[in-house]
Amino acid sequence: MIQVLRKLTRKMELYPLRLLLERSPSKAMIEKDIHRWILMHNRPMSGSSVPEKLAWLMYAMNLEEFRNVLFYRIGTPTKFLDRSLLSLCKTLFPPRGTLLLATSAIGPGLVIMHGFGTFVDAEKVGENCLIFQDVVIGCKNEKNDRPTIGNYVHISVGAKVLGNITIGDHAVIAANSVVTKDMPPNSLAVGIPARIIRNAGNRAEYVASGDIPA
Ligand SMILES: CC(C)(COP(=O)(O)OP(=O)(O)OC[C@H]1O[C@@H](n2cnc3c(N)ncnc32)[C@H](O)[C@@H]1OP(=O)(O)O)[C@@H](O)C(=O)NCCC(=O)NCCS
Repeated sequence: MIQVLRKLTRKMELYPLRLLLERSPSKAMIEKDIHRWILMHNRPMSGSSVPEKLAWLMYAMNLEEFRNVLFYRIGTPTKFLDRSLLSLCKTLFPPRGTLLLATSAIGPGLVIMHGFGTFVDAEKVGENCLIFQDVVIGCKNEKNDRPTIGNYVHISVGAKVLGNITIGDHAVIAANSVVTKDMPPNSLAVGIPARIIRNAGNRAEYVASGDIPA
């Protein structure tokens, strides 16, 4: 009986969110995000439809960071109905308050793990990037000297990426590193100031690419 009630409540709670997603111009992008979050969490789940995946992320995993990404994609709707749905959804599914996504162009598949104190203020973030907690991506000195982050970039816990620099595709930034210079594709940067020590090792690469063996 309790199980049935819980199922019903969840269905009702998810309804405004599903409606909002259906109506959103970013629907396709959000579905790519959902797919990526599921892939990166690599846990067994029942069901393969988008609503089932959404319910799994919202309830089974209870990932607040996913909500930040989702609300970021939805942005500020112009229609009254969408704005009302959005504020209802934010009340039902509060995002993580200490995670700020201030970048106007973020490619599909952004995954943020434990987004405590993470601030993303890049010029652009590519597809399928992975960012951990306590990461800052932003200006170094002047206004608008922001980094451009490539595709499949892995930015480990505590890293800072600052200034008008370019981080190449599949680059990996080690924990607590401070990166202020360009990074070529597939490179690994470590330390403060960060130095490129080699092409990213296989381990780091597959974490970022999401091809995690089952
Ligand atoms: C980037 C990373 C994946 C590299 O791992 P790896 O490929 O196994 O690299 P290694 O451990 O072989 O290290 C290579 C060299 O870099 C150094 N190094 C690695 N990470 C470093 C770091 N964060 N800061 C400074 N130096 C570092 C090692 O000491 C080693 O130096 P040496 O060659 O002089 O001995 C790993 O350091 C990392 O930061 N992982 C992510 C951690 C994370 O975010 N976890 C999430 C927790 S919630």
